[in-house]
Amino acid sequence: MAFDRARVQDVEVAGHTALVRVDFNVPLAGGEVTDDTRIRAALPTIQLLLDRGAAVILASHLGRPDGSPDPALSLDPVARRLAELLGRSVAFCPEATGEEAVRMADALEPGEVMLLENLRFDPGETANDPAFARALASLADLYVDDAFGAVHRAHASTEGVPGLLPSSGGLLLQEEVERLSVVADDPERPLIVVLGGAKVSDKIGLISRFLEIADEILIGGAMCFPFFRAQGIETGDSLVEEEGISLAADLLASAEAPDTRAELVLPVDIAAGESFDAGAERVELDSDSVPEGMLGLDIGEKTAADYAVRIDGAGTVFWNGPMGAFELPGFSLGTRIVADAVASTDGLTVVGGGDSVAALVEFGLTDSIDWVSTGGGASLELLEGIPLPGIEALDGG
Ligand code: 3PG
Repeated sequence: MAFDRARVQDVEVAGHTALVRVDFNVPLAGGEVTDDTRIRAALPTIQLLLDRGAAVILASHLGRPDGSPDPALSLDPVARRLAELLGRSVAFCPEATGEEAVRMADALEPGEVMLLENLRFDPGETANDPAFARALASLADLYVDDAFGAVHRAHASTEGVPGLLPSSGGLLLQEEVERLSVVADDPERPLIVVLGGAKVSDKIGLISRFLEIADEILIGGAMCFPFFRAQGIETGDSLVEEEGISLAADLLASAEAPDTRAELVLPVDIAAGESFDAGAERVELDSDSVPEGMLGLDIGEKTAADYAVRIDGAGTVFWNGPMGAFELPGFSLGTRIVADAVASTDGLTVVGGGDSVAALVEFGLTDSIDWVSTGGGASLELLEGIPLPGIEALDGG
């Protein structure tokens, strides 16, 4: 799918004030940003607007503060990091709407940047309250959405404001849509989809869609256990999402249907331990022989080697979700082997979702991936074919 909404580069912005929704939902520790990937990803749009003579007001959420201020989730440290990356000062407004926000917005000159405080400190943001949307919109005369990671949310800043101002998509938003769409709409074949993580319920729509369009779906992480249980295979003390068992049974039945395209591949072996613990010893077991007293914490070595061969032969790979508890030293092997395979295949590689991206960062492989999405839930919903409210709300292209 090409990006079919208005594009920021086609908008006359000189002398205007642009309210730019960004996704600065970044990890913080000790008052410092620990991973600035999402801030860097928004720089091209911010720079374009500044170079073309706009004043830029940035707005973002951070975490889930539930509608009231939480100092630990202030965007103030993000303003400091952004100023370093941009090489110019960034004014921080201690509120998202209100008298101070209006005063600072009015004083902002072309070529200047300010960042509003966390939108979710106000309950109006997630409630998509029209009054909150109007207050945000009153700060600017243009709206640009570059917050790909938040376009699946129908919130005031993503869905409400674009209905009130001339609106367009930023450069990151455009590229995310175009890069991810290739996976579902026009992949080089074979298309291999690698899915991990804890819950099958989070991925049910995605698996259903990819059963129709992928060539192979490789399953890892704790989400393989509901599939085993649906087949009557015991899983010892492994983490099993009970409500996922019937969903997995439905997916297995769909996978068997004669007109289904994709092969649904489950691990043939599992690495188990006696506890979810950094010191737990890794024991390789066949998938159907995890005993009581042990829990599966990674795909096994045979499975990891098989998945690596399949990935190596891919025309396109989409990977979301780790293969196991890669934060435990004894159980990172499966995720590591899959990450290495994705990084080294000649096929087009696209990775989405916080945990798989964190694994790539930990293994130092990010630069070897064709596209690392800044969106978690948003990338999954886009690939599932669900209309995204933050994109639907933008002016047509
Ligand atoms: C994300 O981190 O995936 C986005 O910033 C969206 O955050 P949310 O799930 O809290 O809406």
